[in-house]
Amino acid sequence: MQTPLLTSLPPRLLYIIAASLLLICLFSLSHFTKSQYTPLLPQVQQTPNHPNYGQPPEDPKGWIKPSLRPFDPATDGDNLFYNSEECDAKFPGLFTEIDVAKARGDIGEIPFHDGDKGYVKARIYKGKLYIVAKGDDVWHRQYAILHQIHRSLLTAPNPSEIPNIEFQFLVNDHPAPSTWSLAWSGNDGEVHDTWIMPDYGFWSWPEPHIGSYAEAKEKIEEVDRPLSWADKQGLAVWRGTVHWNGELRGKLLEVAKGKPWSDVAELDWKTNALKIEEFCKYKFLIYTEGVTYSGRLRYFQHCRSIIITPRLAWRQYQSFLLQSSGPDQNYVEVAPDWSDLEEKVQYYLDHPIEAERIANNTVRLFRDWYLTPAGEVCYWRKLFQGWASAGGEVGELKLEERGRSWESYVLMGKLDWEATA
Ligand SMILES: *[C@@H]1O[C@H](CO)[C@@H](O)[C@H](O)[C@H]1NC(C)=O
Repeated sequence: MQTPLLTSLPPRLLYIIAASLLLICLFSLSHFTKSQYTPLLPQVQQTPNHPNYGQPPEDPKGWIKPSLRPFDPATDGDNLFYNSEECDAKFPGLFTEIDVAKARGDIGEIPFHDGDKGYVKARIYKGKLYIVAKGDDVWHRQYAILHQIHRSLLTAPNPSEIPNIEFQFLVNDHPAPSTWSLAWSGNDGEVHDTWIMPDYGFWSWPEPHIGSYAEAKEKIEEVDRPLSWADKQGLAVWRGTVHWNGELRGKLLEVAKGKPWSDVAELDWKTNALKIEEFCKYKFLIYTEGVTYSGRLRYFQHCRSIIITPRLAWRQYQSFLLQSSGPDQNYVEVAPDWSDLEEKVQYYLDHPIEAERIANNTVRLFRDWYLTPAGEVCYWRKLFQGWASAGGEVGELKLEERGRSWESYVLMGKLDWEATA
């Protein structure tokens, strides 16, 4: 007769097995509990190639309180010349996303996205930018990112802080693995091992007439500065299309329909479109993610208004700074089906001091600090360093091995051309 496996084992071994199972349970439980407190750093599956993949840093919110900020927006906001140490001091925690990416370990093989329109493969060598390959379509977004990279090279106060690297970036909404991308999601079925880069809008977003970042900032501040909290319309505003993320957005239209607190409508460019600065006239700005993230968040964060959104699935460059509670709260989180939207809008209409505090926190932290060109440029240079340390560094490259110089590429708009005079 066969003895069942467990009863045939010596008791001491059984103890060890039971203890290990208990430890595994406790470990998963502690992970589960932890994820409740770090909603913007969702736990992600480990992958065999990246054993440390998805481990958030110990204290993702270890940044300085806004009241103690070592930063004066009037003089520091446009300063592009901070060295690595100064960047750390001026923008505590801003490089969290880079640390998260670095903690995954070596980047390994960089996949080549020849079928994708939005990718660019490039190199930085001795402080100069070279373009190696790019997707067929010349997107403005590609140019914007390359200009941003170039600007952060030109303004590096210390050339030794710029490593020689090879990298690929993608300006499509969806990220790619081992590639610099615009947003990241810990959701199942999404690419996990991507590196977040600053958005192309930090250069310019001309298509929706938002314009260069400096223009957008100026237009928004002109509208927003003179308005006190009481001056703003006590309405929650949203314009968008239900074509993207129809479930979330369709539900919003349903919940807000005909409500006295709502100016929520499907966008019709001819009748109800709002310029980006006009949103600041409202007390409540409803933010909805689209295909992935939505580009307007950073502009909303320039209005002394309250941003309302369900829990975000996508993280961008500045996402780790979002706080949905406590004294530093800078947005209001609602249920994914918007069922508590009305109640929350009403609450903040009835509690104007609390509401104004949230709105003040938003502009203080984002407009007047982390979303300045100074922060963006610091991030790029930290990204170059982080990428180099994770295996993106290249050795000696002869001139003909480097790719097309940025200076020529930006004039010709292509990598190859016939010689003429
Ligand atoms: C918000 O900021 C404005 C402008 O600095 C200030 O006048 C107001 O007192 C602040 N409100 C609260 C509640 O902190």
